Amino acid sequence: MTLRLEAAGRREAGGERRRKALAPLEGIPLSLYIHFPWCVRKCPYCDFNSHAARGDIEEDRYIDALIRDLDYELSLAPLASRLSPPGRSLPPPLASIFAGGGTPSLFSGRAVGRLLEAVAARLAFAPDIEITLEANPGTADAGNFSEYRAAGVNRLSIGVQSLEDAQLKRLGRIHGRDEALAAYRTARAAGFDNINLDLMYALPQQTPAQALADLRAACALAPEHLSYYQLTLEPNTEFAAHPPPLPDDETAWTMQLAGQDLLAAQGYAQYEVSAYAQTGRQCRHNRNYWEFGDYLGVGAGAHGKYSSPGGIVRRARHKHPRSYLEAAGGAAAVQEEKAVAAAELPFEFAMNALRLNQGFSRDLFEHRTGLPIAALDTALNQARQKGLIEEDRHQIRASAFGRAHLNALLREFL
Ligand SMILES: C[S@@+](CC[C@H](N)C(=O)[O-])C[C@H]1O[C@@H](n2cnc3c(N)ncnc32)[C@H](O)[C@@H]1O
Ligand code: SF4
Repeated sequence: MTLRLEAAGRREAGGERRRKALAPLEGIPLSLYIHFPWCVRKCPYCDFNSHAARGDIEEDRYIDALIRDLDYELSLAPLASRLSPPGRSLPPPLASIFAGGGTPSLFSGRAVGRLLEAVAARLAFAPDIEITLEANPGTADAGNFSEYRAAGVNRLSIGVQSLEDAQLKRLGRIHGRDEALAAYRTARAAGFDNINLDLMYALPQQTPAQALADLRAACALAPEHLSYYQLTLEPNTEFAAHPPPLPDDETAWTMQLAGQDLLAAQGYAQYEVSAYAQTGRQCRHNRNYWEFGDYLGVGAGAHGKYSSPGGIVRRARHKHPRSYLEAAGGAAAVQEEKAVAAAELPFEFAMNALRLNQGFSRDLFEHRTGLPIAALDTALNQARQKGLIEEDRHQIRASAFGRAHLNALLREFL
């Protein structure tokens, strides 16, 4: 959330080059993202594809649309060849599924169960598949949580944001501290042993001491994972139009550094700009994005990326639930499809992989982009001279200075 570098409008050096070397597609992990575009109410800071649910959500209609959309995605020729390249008859098993939003927890356990059954009938699941569902504490229903768990969801991501009532009010949340704590207890009681809490800092009028107290309260719950985001003002949100008094950049940076120290002391290792986890509990789904793996995206506004013998293709669905519902199952649901030019791959890869504290290996770059590591020579030389990266025999990663100036580092790859 802290980093938004616009990739659009960039000039391509050398025009549309084809991938020189074709990546061996074997071994690129495949994930599935499913978007749920409704929330009880739109939060004033949020620019996600989420719409206030006016009246009842027609959940069966939406689940049917998602299944048709997945069938369409699987029928596409390049994708079909990606999934079943010559000599390999079975699609790779899904490494992870992420039901995100919006607020997927507005959907019943029955609906989520029907959806997962339909996915399982179409794609194999890896034996250790991670299946995450995002929940808003204001929609935490014990019956639903137990049904999600029974349906195969094995990781819950709860949007707590803060554990201070005054802050939750300023953020326009539909829940207070007590509901957030109750949602966490409900999740544990339903059998979830892998829980993420989303927390934000640099909130309106927040002091560093208050941010740390909030973080300490979240750690005391002992979730397996914490996503710790700096609140940012996003265009076209209520907060952008009427900005609340936010801490300045320097104060926000102080909060981030102090937060990192506190989290480390509590056993949460930072592995990405905003992601912290207990040992063995990093989010596999997000890691696959950051490691430039492949993912199918179904649902309103969902994005997918996959590698085929001809190169990497990105595809995005229509954002508005109404247009999506009408078109799902055919090409009309696709708003944008783009073959990523070889010249854009170094930046796209770096934009993801350099978010990870451990950075990336030269082999990973070559495997995921199909380009030789020499394609990064100029960018790496410049970044090295400016002290933005550090390297050893295996890994290339952002230095501490590079992490503090991530946008400057990424610009070297443009
Ligand atoms: C899709 S929401 C999570 C689930 C659910 N919709 C909720 O809010 O409880 C994803 C997360 O992104 C974070 N987020 C949203 N807008 C943000 C912003 N402007 N700045 C920082 N983080 C933001 C919040 O922590 C939020 O929980
Ligand atoms: S509930 Fe979550 S997705 Fe919905 S508007 Fe609020 S932050 Fe955005």
